[in-house]
Amino acid sequence: MSLIFVKTQSILYSILILVFSQATFAAEKTASGASIYKEVCAVCHNVGVANAPKLGDQNAWKKLIGEGQVIITAHGYVGVRAMPARGGKESLSVEQFAEALNYMINKSGGHWISPNQAMLAEINKEITNRKKTQ
Ligand code: HEC
Repeated sequence: MSLIFVKTQSILYSILILVFSQATFAAEKTASGASIYKEVCAVCHNVGVANAPKLGDQNAWKKLIGEGQVIITAHGYVGVRAMPARGGKESLSVEQFAEALNYMINKSGGHWISPNQAMLAEINKEITNRKKTQ
């Protein structure tokens, strides 16, 4: 009887730890999105340098948000017209770029979340396709 209790308790603890670490993980991602945005993207997207869609400008972002997270993340990462590849920071990974972009999108009328593995695979595929046509 008491053994069952101990077991149940340790399972409950494991679940709690798991839930807590996932929440911390999500919070860390949001924080890193904000800090990457500030470090790399803000210089252009805060004020709209060369017509960059501005942070918080829902009208400017509306059509892009409509094109979807996979396409917009991939094209931004590769670079579009006056938008430099990876926001000009060579060392940015696709995940880091996606976090910074999510931060900007979610302040501009969108509701994007961190891409999961399946979406990351699609983004990488679109990056490869896009590079071929550049
Ligand atoms: C040197 C200035 C500059 C920096 C730095 C920069 N951007 Fe941009 N970005 C632009 C400009 C300009 C455009 C508009 C491009 C156009 O439509 O001609 C743009 C457009 C975009 C777009 C829309 C692309 C599309 O498909 O039309 C995304 C997404 C984007 N930026 C994300 C980011 C992210 C995320 C960062 C930081 C990691 C970043 N940018 C850093 C200048 C910049």
